[in-house]
Amino acid sequence: MIIAIDGPAASGKSTTALGVAQVLGIRYLDTGAMYRAVTLAVIREKVDLSNVKSVDACLSHIELSLKFENSKAHVFLGDEDVTEVIRGIEVTRTVSAVSALPSVRRKMVSLQRKIAWQGDTIVEGRDIGTVVFPNADFKFFIVADYETRGERRLNDIKKMGIDLSTEEIIKDLKRRDKIDSSRMHSPLTKAEDAIEIDTSGMTLEEQIGLIIETVKKGEKGGK
Ligand code: DC
Repeated sequence: MIIAIDGPAASGKSTTALGVAQVLGIRYLDTGAMYRAVTLAVIREKVDLSNVKSVDACLSHIELSLKFENSKAHVFLGDEDVTEVIRGIEVTRTVSAVSALPSVRRKMVSLQRKIAWQGDTIVEGRDIGTVVFPNADFKFFIVADYETRGERRLNDIKKMGIDLSTEEIIKDLKRRDKIDSSRMHSPLTKAEDAIEIDTSGMTLEEQIGLIIETVKKGEKGGK
């Protein structure tokens, strides 16, 4: 079974997807983390993003792998566990530009399909229901208003000891939404048959409960 969850940054989709995966006892594949790991490699190697050859050279030698434990994956570049470091501010600022590159997307999509076909998986990202798994068993599109998203992101980054105002965070979310939704390749869009859930004002338990109930009832979204 494949459950596709898409939506913009900080809409609550990652925590919801992980919660659902743990309740169902299946794997949670965070595809954003994969794009973040590539971005970390690109930053470290000072790759010029406007130079396709340098990007491809970097892609051809990075060894990206995931190790699952209790539904969740640790992300590795070679032998290094980069799960935490890919959440940093520089990767967050650069990842939209890196994930817009066609060669990066091709490599990531092929890896995502390979991983998810190994067993029941919740796959979360921006293009899962539209491009990666258009035939997913269930598709959800998670949204929330900017105020809610700004506050959620603020809580996340506070835990990392980073000091930013809600206004700065919302400005960055808007900038990323614009890049993610307007890029030429696999932009962020709701699949016609996805069920939309607005998580503004919902608790995490309510979000998880709603998805589990839908999956158990076998309800699909309408066109
Ligand atoms: O979910 P996230 O914020 O960790 O995702 C990081 C970036 O990766 C985000 O700016 C968009 C991109 N992304 C993508 O283009 N396609 C996906 N399937 C997942 C993430």
